[in-house]
Amino acid sequence: MGLPLLKARGPADELKKLSDLSRDLAQQYLRSAHATLGQLIRVPNLLGGVSLEREPRRYTRNFLFGDSSMSAWAIVWPPGSSTSIHDHHCSCCFAVLRGSLREIWFDAVGDDRAVKTAEALRAPGYIACTLPSGPNIHQMTNDRSEEAISIHIYGFDHRSRASSVEREYRLASL
Ligand SMILES: [Fe+2]
Repeated sequence: MGLPLLKARGPADELKKLSDLSRDLAQQYLRSAHATLGQLIRVPNLLGGVSLEREPRRYTRNFLFGDSSMSAWAIVWPPGSSTSIHDHHCSCCFAVLRGSLREIWFDAVGDDRAVKTAEALRAPGYIACTLPSGPNIHQMTNDRSEEAISIHIYGFDHRSRASSVEREYRLASL
């Protein structure tokens, strides 16, 4: 990124250092979130004291923890449940606790359509952490015959916004 208004070496260098620090802090957060999720999913009977909401056909989000910086949720995925194709306005970190989830990745085509680029089946113990600028347009679905449960940590204050989703997309037909 250029600095067209700042020709002086000193101020430009200081701004570049600040940018590097911001990027480093974000990566440090992602590493910590990854480690935290790894610890959580190794806790025996992690959700034993949590009353999980379940619905027969759609996934349910169950609030675990949140403050001004982040929120953590247990998501219960009945067989056949799926998210929309979406991206996030915040960091998105998740771990598969039980069952398996298929994650499908997309590239945007225009403002509201997306084309599939990759997919993978995520087994218990799988952990992923991404920044909004990942890019992170994806869809998660439980296409297995057993319920799945995942733990998600989003970098947003659940009290100020209802959802971590920034934008939803339609599958583009090629
Ligand atoms: Fe997502």
